[in-house]
Amino acid sequence: MNATDRKVLVWDLPVRVGHWLLATCFVVAWLTGESEEWRLVHVLAGGGAVGVVLFRLLWGLFGSRYALFVDFISGPRAAWCYLKSLLGSKPMHCVGHNPAGGWAIVALLGLALVAGATGWTVYQDIGGEWLAELHEGAANAMLLVVLIHLAGVLVGSLAHRENLVRPMLTGRKDGGAGDGILGSRPVAAMLLLAWVAAVAWWMSL
Ligand code: HEM
Ligand code: HEM
Repeated sequence: MNATDRKVLVWDLPVRVGHWLLATCFVVAWLTGESEEWRLVHVLAGGGAVGVVLFRLLWGLFGSRYALFVDFISGPRAAWCYLKSLLGSKPMHCVGHNPAGGWAIVALLGLALVAGATGWTVYQDIGGEWLAELHEGAANAMLLVVLIHLAGVLVGSLAHRENLVRPMLTGRKDGGAGDGILGSRPVAAMLLLAWVAAVAWWMSL
């Protein structure tokens, strides 16, 4: 966890492409949810979000170092210590996700799955009104966590005096020698794109 001036490759391509795909799918799904006219676009965007999340679950087990769940999922104590350190003069720096951000990621992935699954049942006319209610609730809860996520990125960037958004585009972040991952895994990123298209199409049938 030593910050240096050096930039090392931290986020592989599946993490970066998956992130911006999920963010886009969420925004499109959110904006089109209430419109009958935009239903197909809504379902494709929502289905795309589900595709990204399903891939991300596998990538959390088999992906590169900082994509792994074991790297960023930790107990509430670690998240609390991190948040407290932000108030001090030496905030804890993490090369990968910080422990508080890790919790937000789990919540975002989980809520996207609940929203996607319940949306699909409503679309297929399976189940009752409660599933539509749950769908709306999961989407609203996800919006709340997205806003917390954005606030976290802003606060983290200010506290560490490091733009955290740029690494989600370039993959490179402050780190020490030996902290970087070896490659950006472009083939896995291509598979992700094909998989997301397939899941979105299947969910729209
Ligand atoms: C709008 C919906 C969004 C969703 C659902 C979302 C979701 C996520 C998820 C799941 C991750 C973890 C990435 C991974 O390990 O695979 C993440 C990380 C990240 N997101 Fe977002 N995101 C959204 C929007 C944004 C936006 C608009 C920005 C930039 C302004 C942003 C900046 C970041 C950054 C910088 C990280 C890495 C945080 C770190 O350094 O640990 N996100 N986001
Ligand atoms: C991240 C994923 C998703 C988000 C954020 C989301 C969000 C929303 C929102 C905000 C609404 C409006 C709720 C209301 O005010 O009544 C809505 C409605 C709807 N969504 Fe989604 N959605 C997602 C995924 C899906 C998927 C994957 C499907 C289908 C395959 C789907 C099908 C529907 C349907 C059929 C409605 C209309 C429900 C009704 O008539 O009450 N959604 N969605």
